[in-house]
Amino acid sequence: MAFLTEGDRKYTTPEDIIAHVGDEYGKFMGAIVPPIFQNSLFVRYNGANDIPEGNPYAYTRVSNPTTDIAERKVAALEGGDGALCFSSGMGAISSAVMHFVRTGCHIVLVDTAYGPTMQLIRDYLCKKFAVEYTLVHGTDTQEIIDAVRPNTTLIYLESPSSVVFRMQDLDAVTAFAREKGIGTVIDNSYATPINQQPLKHGVDIVCHTASKYLGGHSDIVAGVIASRREIIESIQSTERALYGSNMDPHQSWLLIRGMRTLIVRLRQHAANAAKVAEYLENSKKVLKVFYPGSRTYAQNELYHKYMSGGNGLMSFVPSGTAEEVRAFTTRLHMFQNGVSWGGFESLCVTAGGIPEAEVPKNLIRLHVGLENVDTLIADLDQALAPLPDKE
Ligand SMILES: Cc1ncc(COP(=O)(O)O)c(C=O)c1O
Repeated sequence: MAFLTEGDRKYTTPEDIIAHVGDEYGKFMGAIVPPIFQNSLFVRYNGANDIPEGNPYAYTRVSNPTTDIAERKVAALEGGDGALCFSSGMGAISSAVMHFVRTGCHIVLVDTAYGPTMQLIRDYLCKKFAVEYTLVHGTDTQEIIDAVRPNTTLIYLESPSSVVFRMQDLDAVTAFAREKGIGTVIDNSYATPINQQPLKHGVDIVCHTASKYLGGHSDIVAGVIASRREIIESIQSTERALYGSNMDPHQSWLLIRGMRTLIVRLRQHAANAAKVAEYLENSKKVLKVFYPGSRTYAQNELYHKYMSGGNGLMSFVPSGTAEEVRAFTTRLHMFQNGVSWGGFESLCVTAGGIPEAEVPKNLIRLHVGLENVDTLIADLDQALAPLPDKE
């Protein structure tokens, strides 16, 4: 099932978890790569067939053996009792949010959360179901505490967020939330469970888009949550089963395959990105760089408290007008223009201009991929060259 077994708990390092948790060779005739159970239905013991009595599988919308393997790996990496895979990151996030939504409730939401998450809470739930919300930067815990009302049922975090990488102090927020009986959900996609495990800091539900680093090859749209047993049981039997946002078994298989190399990929993304960040920080054509862990990152104290490594996603503000900045993006050869991140490839996208969240106007988000880093820096250099020097 979606829960860790005693056998799974033998594996304690992320490397060993990824390589072995859930891979029960005896169950699958010694296959080193698990099979794809591409079936909707699991028939039951009828007295005449040889199905074991008590077979936990009935229907793939609720559980599936291939998907279980992916779930057990994520659960072990995050330090949860279990995990659930979804057909997309938004499937995971909306189910986690709905777990805490009640009629007339209030949600505290960080203002740089992923756009469709903001839409879900601010536009969909609030306009259609009279749910209330308050936006916060989230960098100051007191701001979060002050935003809470008597009807607050959820504090929604994204730390680091995925455009300007704001972090929240998880220990402080969850200590307060627990005392008040308020649920906490975090989008942990930027960090991945390799670099941050929010359940260990008291967060109730961790969400991921597995379309990014967990999958890692830009070939699946997928999501996953990890949590303690009662929450996983509840979401498995209600939000996931009723909205029907379960992961397809083939998608689960690709996710398992992608995760096998998660740690080595992240290491290389982070090494490349650190060099790119340093180049940008020293460039006369760049006004500001946003990269957790880098020399100029504003929240390095929290970064070192919660994160154990970096990745390839960063933002920067080039000098020049909006026109000049747009022209810069068209001169890049190695960075393709695209909205996603976390795959093998380098990407660039204009992501600025959210005034209420104080996201600068001409912000460019880069995903530093696994290409040769000197080629990537040379590409940025030629594309930045025509921009005016900063004052
Ligand atoms: C930070 C973050 N969270 C959630 C999502 C949603 O994931 P998905 O596209 O898999 O639904 C994304 C997708 O871009 C994202 O960047």
